[in-house]
Amino acid sequence: MREFGYAIVDLLAEHFAEGDQKRVGAKSDPAKLIPMFDRDPPETGCDPNELLAQLERDVLPNNLHVDHPRFFAFVPGPNNFVSAMADALAAGFNVFNGTWFGGSAAAAVELGVVRWLCRTCGFPNTAGGLFVSGGSMANLTALVAARHALLHDRIEGAIVYFSDQTHSSVERALRVIGFLSKQLRKLPSDEKFRLSIKTLHDAIKSDRAKGLRPFCVIANAGTTNTGAVDPLNELADLATKEKLWFHVDGAFGAASILSDRGRAMLGGIERADSISLDPHKWLFQSFECGCVLVRDVALLKSAFQITADYLRDVHRDAEQFNPCDHGVQLTRSFRALKVWLSLQTFGLAAFREAITRGFELAEIGERQLRSRKGWEILSPAQMATVCFRFGKSDNVQTKLVDATMDDGYALLTSTTLRGAVALRLCAINPRTTDDDVIGTIDRLDRLARKL
Ligand SMILES: Cc1ncc(COP(=O)(O)O)c(C=O)c1O
Repeated sequence: MREFGYAIVDLLAEHFAEGDQKRVGAKSDPAKLIPMFDRDPPETGCDPNELLAQLERDVLPNNLHVDHPRFFAFVPGPNNFVSAMADALAAGFNVFNGTWFGGSAAAAVELGVVRWLCRTCGFPNTAGGLFVSGGSMANLTALVAARHALLHDRIEGAIVYFSDQTHSSVERALRVIGFLSKQLRKLPSDEKFRLSIKTLHDAIKSDRAKGLRPFCVIANAGTTNTGAVDPLNELADLATKEKLWFHVDGAFGAASILSDRGRAMLGGIERADSISLDPHKWLFQSFECGCVLVRDVALLKSAFQITADYLRDVHRDAEQFNPCDHGVQLTRSFRALKVWLSLQTFGLAAFREAITRGFELAEIGERQLRSRKGWEILSPAQMATVCFRFGKSDNVQTKLVDATMDDGYALLTSTTLRGAVALRLCAINPRTTDDDVIGTIDRLDRLARKL
């Protein structure tokens, strides 16, 4: 056990220490990779050290390193070593984090971290929440609570509003919980990619006139595309006036509230009925670590709690916190441990500084692009994200993504902004240096000119 375990720790320590010297990872050919693993397991076991060597050769390099300092694609996953070790502990002890009866200390740690996140977001004492797999599950969990609280689960004619910049997980969550596409209003965003109050107001009015039931508005606290933050205070005003549930998808951006820069952008988030916040993004945790926070935690419990004969011992004391009563999962891993252990180890100041760094890195990227000919900024740096393109051809941007992938020095991916393909640099890794950003734009510039 020790030999195998130490070998893995050595591998991890090496990975964290030498992250920037390696390729940013690779996307391998399915015809090569799939047959390697599409096999029955052996009848008798193999030497785990040999298997580790196989993983080092075939598996670990053939993924993208989302924690690489020059991984600027999608939403990076710059986790930390302490978080990874906490996962090893949670898995090794196989801590059950579903009920107070089965994992009282785990439940207490989760409660503590969730309450701290609630306070950080400005929620009142009535608030609470739950760790979930990520933003997708956080959005789904919040929307189930909303549906139960406001509609008593009767969704006929109920309408949900959000902007065209909203993450697809919101639409998927609504589909999963029974909403039809005719009940969703994906409203065109304004010139800064934000949900426009007037557009929303008009849509609500028009739906009421048709006898429909406006039910919920979903705002973004940092869109995936551009980092845009919807006008949270104005939306909260309108939601209150119209008696709508106000959900804020802050899976990407809400954690930035720990920094002064983020806090300045997120005013009004404290007025939400529910918030999604992903520690596995801008709080530097290993996957899977999302969090849903609900202003009145009793609503979460009434939406999810179901008692069962075989859980009678669990539910004997109604006061005890049972995570399983607040979400979809009964058996759950101890996700809160990694957040707790890394916060305790590094302290809040380190987290604040690490988050602030993301804002600065994207700004460095923007300045670099503006100083070179041929580059157009489509969305300036905000929430650690900047979008841009070289020339006018969509095809060139796509080719640039492929060229950076082949090159292996850094990785960016593309998106579509108002019909135009844009490159996107998302820079939330605090281990990224100024030179990493400058070097990446340099390479990109050279590749673009070559194309
Ligand atoms: C704004 C936003 N919401 C939701 C999600 C979905 O989160 P996850 O992939 O953790 O399920 C993402 C992921 O990037 C996101 O950026």
